[in-house]
Amino acid sequence: MSENPAAVPVKKLANGAEIPMIGLGTWPMDDTEAGAAVLHAIEAGYRLIDTAENYRNEEGVGQAIARSPLARSELFVTTKLNAEWHSFDGVRTAWRHSIERLGLDYIDLLLIHWPNPAQGTYVDAYKGLAKLLSKGKVRAIGTSNFTQDQLTELIDATGVVPDVNQIQHSPLWMRADDIAFHEKHGILTQAWSPLGRGAVLEAEPVTAAATAHSVTPAQVVLRWNLQHGASPIPKSTRPDRQASNLDVFSFELDEAQMAAIDGLDGTGPAPADPMTFGH
Ligand code: A2P
Repeated sequence: MSENPAAVPVKKLANGAEIPMIGLGTWPMDDTEAGAAVLHAIEAGYRLIDTAENYRNEEGVGQAIARSPLARSELFVTTKLNAEWHSFDGVRTAWRHSIERLGLDYIDLLLIHWPNPAQGTYVDAYKGLAKLLSKGKVRAIGTSNFTQDQLTELIDATGVVPDVNQIQHSPLWMRADDIAFHEKHGILTQAWSPLGRGAVLEAEPVTAAATAHSVTPAQVVLRWNLQHGASPIPKSTRPDRQASNLDVFSFELDEAQMAAIDGLDGTGPAPADPMTFGH
């Protein structure tokens, strides 16, 4: 992956691919919004674009990628599959559908979107992902919203470490235990809704740190995610916000600022429960 204008650092994943440390989240954009937002984002320096079957915007994301002047190899595209495909063969079908909607011939990172434990077939799905990885149909595989026990099951069943587990993480929902577990196993933590859906941006510890560093509250919160070991994928349709959300590598929050922001944990609505919620 060559250098990009925003100089976003990359990280090497367990199965060898390199992933940018910040990406663009695309939920809840529709195809039209995603088409415009992804093109702006690529111009601003984003190289990681995160979509999902369930967002119903893979076609819009794919059209933006097709319009972008960048070579396919310069971009890192993540998508996620639904419970319907949680079987060895089903994953291959989900991959094909996503490939067709995106207009690509490989996916960089394919995730199981939710574990859906009541259905109980995520291990079969993960075996299907491991097969796609071995065939070069995807460059990295992983999960979203998986618990530590579920990740252990996947590793024990296949011997293949998920490259990524994407979890809901923001100052409202800290997940230090899970991040430590991921780090121990070489799994990258990605943070979805890293800005707490925007709800955390007016909190005093966030605005105080923003003033101290002459940055925006969103930059503070994204930096906070990174300093806790979580790679954020903030969503914005606005080019100005997209650009500033990427510009978080030239300042560092000190211990007191981190601790003050940590104090917001649990002050928002309850996070989604992956044992009962999923699709
Ligand atoms: P918008 O798309 O209008 O910019 P999360 O990624 O945590 O789910 O948060 C996404 C929400 O935060 C969206 O409503 C998005 O709105 C908003 N948002 C994204 N970046 C910023 C920013 N830099 N400042 C304020 N709000 C932001």
